[in-house]
Amino acid sequence: MSNSDFTPRDNFGSRFGIIAAAAGSAVGLGNIWKFPYVAGQNGGGAFLIIYLLFIIAIGLPVMLSEFSIGRRAQRNAIGSFKKLAPGSPWYLVGVMGVVAAFLILSFYSAVAGWTLEYIFKSLTNTFAGKDELELNAMFGSFISGTWRPLFWQMIFMILTAWIVMAGIKKGIEKYTKVLMPLLVVMIVMLCVRSLTLPGSGEGMAFLFKPDFRGLSADAVLGALGQAFFSLSLGMGTLITYGSYIGRNYNLSQTVVQVSAADTIIAIMAGIAIFPAVFAFGIDPAEGPGLVFITLPNIFQQIPGGYFFALVFFILLAVAALTSSISVLEVVVAWFVEELRLTRRKATVLAAVMISVLGVFCTLSFGVMSDVTIFGMVFFDLMDFTASNLLLPLGGLLIVLFVGWYLGADRSRHEISNQGKLRLGYFPVFMFLVKFIAPFAIALVFIYGLGLLRL
Ligand code: PHE
Repeated sequence: MSNSDFTPRDNFGSRFGIIAAAAGSAVGLGNIWKFPYVAGQNGGGAFLIIYLLFIIAIGLPVMLSEFSIGRRAQRNAIGSFKKLAPGSPWYLVGVMGVVAAFLILSFYSAVAGWTLEYIFKSLTNTFAGKDELELNAMFGSFISGTWRPLFWQMIFMILTAWIVMAGIKKGIEKYTKVLMPLLVVMIVMLCVRSLTLPGSGEGMAFLFKPDFRGLSADAVLGALGQAFFSLSLGMGTLITYGSYIGRNYNLSQTVVQVSAADTIIAIMAGIAIFPAVFAFGIDPAEGPGLVFITLPNIFQQIPGGYFFALVFFILLAVAALTSSISVLEVVVAWFVEELRLTRRKATVLAAVMISVLGVFCTLSFGVMSDVTIFGMVFFDLMDFTASNLLLPLGGLLIVLFVGWYLGADRSRHEISNQGKLRLGYFPVFMFLVKFIAPFAIALVFIYGLGLLRL
C-alpha cells in the first residue's frame, strides 16, 4: 500500500476555490498574449466563431474527461493511469504530460519573466515619448540580453515554486482565490478604457463581425490548437487538479464555468486590445510583439496611459502565475506520490530542473540564437514539441481512454457522483469523446507534424 493511502490527500476546500484554481490555470498568457494576436492574424470574427465551436465540441468533453480520470483515481497524472489501467501502457499518457509540463514551463517562464520586466518598465515610465520603432528596438534588445531576462525568469520561477510548495489549500487555492478576482477587475478596467477611445467601433467590428472569406485552413487548425493550450488540456494539469476535487462537487458544472471564464477572458482581452489597435491605425496582424510593442505605443499616447500600462502588465503577470503553478503542480504531484519526496523537496527539485531548461529558452533569443535543432531555436523547439505534438496527442489519448477504456458505465458513475446527479446530456458526451473529439484532434495532430497540408 502506498503512502497516499494512509495520509489524507490535500484537497480544494470550496467550490469557489476549485473554480478559481482551474480557471486560474486556464486563463493565462494563452488568453491575453496569444489569443489577440492569433485572432488578429487569422481574420478576427470568423476565427472567433470557429474557436468557440471547438471549445464547445472538443474543449468541454476533453476537460470533463480529465477531471473524471483524476477524481476517480485520486492520483497525479501518471499515477492515475496506473491505478485505473494497471499493467497497461496507458500510464505513458501521464509520462507525456509530465514531459510536456517541463517543456511548457521552460518557455512559459521566459515570457512570464518579460511581463515582470514590463511591469518594471511601466513603473519607471520608460515608454513615454517613444515611437513604435524605438519600442520595437527596446523589446528586441531586452529579450536578446542575458542577465536581465534570466533574472526576471528566475524571480518568476521562485514565485511559482513558493506558491506550489505551500500545498493545495494553503497555496494554490489561497492565492488563486485572491488573484483571479483581481484579474477580472483589471481586465474590466482595460476594456472600459479601450471602448471609450474615439474610433473604437472599428476594432469591435473586426473582432465580432465574421468574414469567412478570409478564413484559411491554417486558421481553423490554429483555432483548435489555441483552444487546447488556452484550456490547459492534454497534459494532465486538469487530471491533477481533478484529483483534488471532492466527490460531492459537480464536475460538469465546473467544466462549463471554467471554460466560460476562459473564453470570456480571451474575448475581453480582444476587446481591450483591438479597439485601441484600430483607434491608432496599427496592424492587427502584428504578431507576438502585439502586447509588448504595440500596447506600450498606445498606452503612452492615451490619457491615463501610465496607469493603464501598469495595470495591463500586472494583469499579464498574474494570469501567467496562476497558470504556471498548475503546470508545476503536475510534476510536483508526481514526485511526491510516486517518488515519495516531501512536497518541499519535490517543488525545489522540479523548479530547479525546469529552470535549467528555461535558461536555454531565454538565451535562445540572445547568445544562443544561432543554435538550432530541427531548424528551431530552443524556445521554439520547446513550444512546438509541447503545443503541437504533446498536447494534441495527450488530448487524443485522454478522450480515447475515457470513451473506449473506462467506458460509459464507469464514466457515468464518476461524473454523476455515484448516480446522485441526473445527466441528461451524458449520451452526447460519450458520442463526443468516442468519435468527434478524437477525429478532430487527430486532424490537428497530423497537421502539427506537418504530415498534412490543407
Ligand atoms: N492555459 C494556459 C494559458 O492559457 C497555459 C497552460 C497550458 C497551462 C497547459 C497549463 C497547461 O496560458
